[in-house]
Amino acid sequence: MPKTENIEFELGAMNHVGVAVPDITAAIAFYRDVMGAEDITDPKVLAPQGVTYAFVNLPTGQVELIEPYGETSPILKFLERNPKGGQHHMCFEVEDIHLAKAVMEKRGMRVLGEPRIGAHGTLVVFLHPGDAGGVLIELMETHKEH
Ligand code: CO
Repeated sequence: MPKTENIEFELGAMNHVGVAVPDITAAIAFYRDVMGAEDITDPKVLAPQGVTYAFVNLPTGQVELIEPYGETSPILKFLERNPKGGQHHMCFEVEDIHLAKAVMEKRGMRVLGEPRIGAHGTLVVFLHPGDAGGVLIELMETHKEH
């Protein structure tokens, strides 16, 4: 990979780790009562993505708890294989999601679908875990100043 190609794309901060859970209320109680996390958001539904989510806010980033929502939730299959839940994806920030998608495709990555609104209210895409060392990677556009 020629070094100059990196000029157009820069990987940003690690934003969160996504954790699939069968019961988000129980997961919130675990992070609050056992792990001692003090700042956890109330669960919210993101219907188009088939998830109910909550953020465990930590000084260095977030744990994103995701519970299946609806019959076609992409999380259902994951929970079939991992009934107790488990680490589902990790998310990095990028400045421009469309540029990031184009660069990743140019580098031979399978990008899963078009950019869509994620749990943070900004555009996200996912990269196929088969091209990424077995890890489902989410790229998330950072919030732009208005
Ligand atoms: Co995520």
